[in-house]
Amino acid sequence: MTILGVETSCDECSIALVEDGRRLIAQQIASQIEFHAPYSGVVPEIASRKHTEWILDVYNRTLDDAGATPADVDGVAVTTRPGLSGSLVVGLSFAKALALGLGVPIVGVNHILAHLYAPHLEFEIDYPYLGLLVSGGHTLICLVRGVEDIEVLGTTVDDACGEAFDKVAKFLDLGYPGGVVIDRLARSGDPRAFSFPVSTVKTGPGRYDVSYSGLKTAVANQMEQFRTPGYEATNENIAASFQKAAIETVLTQLERAVADTGVTTIVVGGGVAANSYLRERLSDRGVLRAVFPSMELCTDNGAMIAGIGYHLLRNGGGDDLSIGVSARVEGYRRPRGGRPPRPA
Ligand code: KG4
Ligand code: ZN
Repeated sequence: MTILGVETSCDECSIALVEDGRRLIAQQIASQIEFHAPYSGVVPEIASRKHTEWILDVYNRTLDDAGATPADVDGVAVTTRPGLSGSLVVGLSFAKALALGLGVPIVGVNHILAHLYAPHLEFEIDYPYLGLLVSGGHTLICLVRGVEDIEVLGTTVDDACGEAFDKVAKFLDLGYPGGVVIDRLARSGDPRAFSFPVSTVKTGPGRYDVSYSGLKTAVANQMEQFRTPGYEATNENIAASFQKAAIETVLTQLERAVADTGVTTIVVGGGVAANSYLRERLSDRGVLRAVFPSMELCTDNGAMIAGIGYHLLRNGGGDDLSIGVSARVEGYRRPRGGRPPRPA
């Protein structure tokens, strides 16, 4: 069964063809970064306009790459939530037109579930595992028991992890998106040069949650001091010290989740999965197995949508053409009392 996946939830316009939920046949990802960079963040209006202009071409190029024709498509999967409403609507309208024209089923996909499914396109992974999703829009620690069976253990109470990288990069005038530049500068900086805070929630229902606003403010306050004459600070040292705090923040909560659940396979997704400090800290050790999908599958992509869409369609989860979009993250279970039951 060949499923065509459509992803337009944010600023990546991507379409992929995936066979039987596992084999990636072809994928195109058109990035809009250059159009958003002047604003230091994604501008929703620009994002949806670009999707509208590009999506047909992205579709045609995907079919060309695959050497496929529209008749090869057995079903259409499309991100319907969460994301920027205007961007989601472009992908969904395109997917509906395609499904209607081809006479194939359509299924709306939750983008977060799709990220957590992505590694199955490249690796053999048994359930359960802990998913760490860290990007410009998401910071989630999840217990993943099955394709659709996930429990969000922790999230951010304010900024997303990648957003914190981007904001600090903006303070340092490093351009957008800044995570990759901070990562590069940090390699020649001293992570102990400044002691920035690691803010985590420790008890209650949010005991796996993280916060980045304190860290961001701490860096901003230090920046004020850096301007005082005689104060020695380099971008490298700030980047290294910030990066250490930002990554230790999610790792602290992830380690707590490992200890509480006994689950030792960690699957990482999202743009921050490229971070070298995170990769170094999470490298396999002892019983811990860390799985990092290739970057193309870590960031937003159509393949993960097609991959999970296959399972949803097979399980009878197809939608009708009145399906809509939702900007919000919804429908997740959070553990009551703050601690998930240990999987059997
Ligand atoms: O998943 P993604 O491409 O897009 C969404 O946010 O949806 O993630 C982009 C985020 C940006 O915040 C970017 O600064 C961050 O991932 N990022 C990194 C690195 N590469 C990208 N953050 C830290 N270290 C990196 N090497
Ligand atoms: Zn995403």
